[in-house]
Amino acid sequence: MVDVILGLQWGDEGKGKIVDFFAPQYDVIARFQGGPNAGHTLYVAGKKMVLHQIPSGIFHENKINLIGNGVVLDAVTLKKECESVASLGVDYKKTLFISKRTHLILPTHRALDKASETTKGNEKIGSTLKGISPAYMDKTGRNGLRVGDLLDKNFITQYIRLRLKHQKLLENFSFAEDISDWEEEFFAALEFLKELQIVNGEYFINDKIQQGKKILAEGAQGSMLDVDFGTFPFVTSSNTISAGVCTGLGIAPQKIKEVLGVTKAYCTRVGSGPFPTELNDETGERIRQLGNEFGSTTGRPRRCGWIDLVALQFACMINGVTQLIMTKADVMDSLEILQVCNSYKVNGEEQSQIPFQMSRLNIEPVYKTFDGWKTDITGLKTFADLPEKMKNYISYLDKTLGVPIKYISNGPGSDQIIMAL
Ligand code: GDP
Ligand code: IMO
Ligand code: MG
Repeated sequence: MVDVILGLQWGDEGKGKIVDFFAPQYDVIARFQGGPNAGHTLYVAGKKMVLHQIPSGIFHENKINLIGNGVVLDAVTLKKECESVASLGVDYKKTLFISKRTHLILPTHRALDKASETTKGNEKIGSTLKGISPAYMDKTGRNGLRVGDLLDKNFITQYIRLRLKHQKLLENFSFAEDISDWEEEFFAALEFLKELQIVNGEYFINDKIQQGKKILAEGAQGSMLDVDFGTFPFVTSSNTISAGVCTGLGIAPQKIKEVLGVTKAYCTRVGSGPFPTELNDETGERIRQLGNEFGSTTGRPRRCGWIDLVALQFACMINGVTQLIMTKADVMDSLEILQVCNSYKVNGEEQSQIPFQMSRLNIEPVYKTFDGWKTDITGLKTFADLPEKMKNYISYLDKTLGVPIKYISNGPGSDQIIMAL
């Protein structure tokens, strides 16, 4: 069977650490969407690693890691990442597999991303500028090149044709960028990529399912960045929700069992777009410092705010979340109070649903206030040891969301995680 771990907010919920924690229980760990816009942090023997393209199960021996067809792949990033995991003793040539149907990010996709963001001015999405949106546009526009195309002798002709198309688009943007260095690196990385295990991902994974192997699908970004259900247009360009597992790996829906949704004890967002519970004050800054809330991919300061149950309830519904995992609970350790957003006031009217269009509305969050627990929880190992005030907070979230919080992460370390009773 297939279980899923995905983010329920605007990304960076701690998916990397959680996937790494659960990986020993699975045979295959598979990424189903997104690309190098993702930055998943985990600690390997105390050393910090940030993965952008490779699934977060890579550090576990004898586990298969699959980059699925729903991913967009930057070969340059992949090559660098393979070299860095190899330096920690990972034999990626044996354990990393890539679907032939995975679309490639080209140097001109990155240039187009930059051009598009520049022309948007104040309306910019705050993209990571990794070429994600142009690569997915070429996929749905039926122009893109896929990993399997590398094995075709006409690849270079196809590449030149597409690059020409992109150059015309760039001229329309009046955007000039010398991509010759990128291109050189890109072609070197393609040679590297060709040597990896390139497979028919859909047959590969269904064979594993047939053999009774356990699959863990790893989400990137977060549900509120989903292209259909997120805060459009301030979203990424893929389906980050559980439905994306089916199209992004070639898995039938009835094969999916548990959907583990990851949420922080508060909320963050990086890039532009609506964020009703954002704190543009000292508390927001304090959370940023305490939680070290700076982007894993771009280093940008993350916007911080209180947990938003309107958004979380929506994410639980869209994903069919069966279990919740709360991360970064320790970041709240020193706060006097915590606020929980239960509903939104829109034009004076209270509502508990996510509005169709959030960016043009004035949304005022309605809060319930909780006492802070004022206890250092980073060294605690059992649920029973957690402060009562924290248990109150957790129990309120459990009840309101109607989904149990099964694990609480109390620090970035791989052993800092507590199972709820
Ligand atoms: P992802 O993209 O969802 O994998 O999350 P990121 O890696 O981008 O961001 C999460 C950050 O929080 C990383 O720096 C993690 O090391 C860190 N982290 C994860 N869980 C915890 C936790 O429970 N407590 C603290 N303090 N940090 C955590
Ligand atoms: P992980 O997997 C947080 C955000 C960007 C921007 C918007 C669109 O680490 O949680 P894109 O580059 O996809 O065109 O950017 O989405 N974004 C993320 N925010 N975590 C991520 O990934 C993100 N990937 C993209 O900041 O606002
Ligand atoms: Mg991240």
